[in-house]
Amino acid sequence: MELDEIYRSVQGDLLEVKNTLRSISQTDMPWLSEQLSYIVRETGKGIRPALTLLAGQLYHYDLTYLLPMAVSVELMHTATLVHDDAIDKASTRRGQATINSVWGDEIAILMGDYLFARAGEFVSDTQTPRVIKLFSQTLGTISSGEISQFRGAFVLNQDRDNYFTRIYRKTASLFSLSTQSGAILSQAPEEAIAIMKEYGDNLGIAFQIVDDILDFTSTETTLGKPVGSDLLQGTLTLPALMLLERYPEDNPVKNHFQTRDRKYIKQAIDMVLNSSIIDDCYEVAREYSQVSCRNLHLLPDTESREALNGLCEYVVKRKI
Ligand code: IPE
Ligand code: IPE
Ligand code: MG
Ligand code: MG
Repeated sequence: MELDEIYRSVQGDLLEVKNTLRSISQTDMPWLSEQLSYIVRETGKGIRPALTLLAGQLYHYDLTYLLPMAVSVELMHTATLVHDDAIDKASTRRGQATINSVWGDEIAILMGDYLFARAGEFVSDTQTPRVIKLFSQTLGTISSGEISQFRGAFVLNQDRDNYFTRIYRKTASLFSLSTQSGAILSQAPEEAIAIMKEYGDNLGIAFQIVDDILDFTSTETTLGKPVGSDLLQGTLTLPALMLLERYPEDNPVKNHFQTRDRKYIKQAIDMVLNSSIIDDCYEVAREYSQVSCRNLHLLPDTESREALNGLCEYVVKRKI
């Protein structure tokens, strides 16, 4: 299934989310409005707000609360990207120059903070302490994931446990907030909320594994963001970890981390691409995506449940 097809039952409401996101650029400070409208001009795939709305459609679909929640998760996502690009010194995002590359790191930090603040305002419109608390906890979890990635840069003695914990924190936790909040705000029973948590946790891990694969296999033109950047930043992702596991001695990842000589990056990428590593990484991603939807059959049989199933397949097939 294509994304458009998966989103069908929430399409109109996702458009409303997008319009609300764009409306945050209306402020009484022209320089702030200029930067905000630049940030919300390209809006991305919208997976997180779609998850909130699709989870919400399983039970009592009330947009009064679901809409601000969906806006809030997308704003939190956008804020983390603005900060992430400054940390990664990335030049492009969603096919356009990053905030840090246009206005500098300081503005990127400040704009990210502003977006987090607005995300907080929207989540408070849900008037639901349980999701507001989950929102704050998730923000802490994402930060801890990004901190652990930064502190772990160019560190060789990291294993798969370390990798999965890190990607759970930096990416899957927000998927989990998106799905759980949708369930909570539509008054789903506790068992269903737990199923949506399991779904979000595992889908998010699969999604990040594929992001890490695409960093090896794709191109900047397709992705709209730099490729090969994880090794450049010294971030050990699953393909690089598998290469280290297979060739523990003379290894270009190891050589790059020790010398920071960029010639080893190309060697590492070539070695990964000429091995079964990419297939093996997809296999791991598929395992997580299968776990994510294993209990969906226990939920009400609705179009949105089918869409959630469709997303499990989409995340391991996506090209962007
Ligand atoms: C990018 O997320 C950051 C990761 C967690 C890998 P998306 O791939 O969802 O980015 P957009 O919103 O579609 O641009
Ligand atoms: C996801 O990781 C970033 C956040 C959770 C903020 P990446 O660093 O891999 O994301 P991209 O590749 O820059 O989109
Ligand atoms: Mg990045
Ligand atoms: Mg990436």
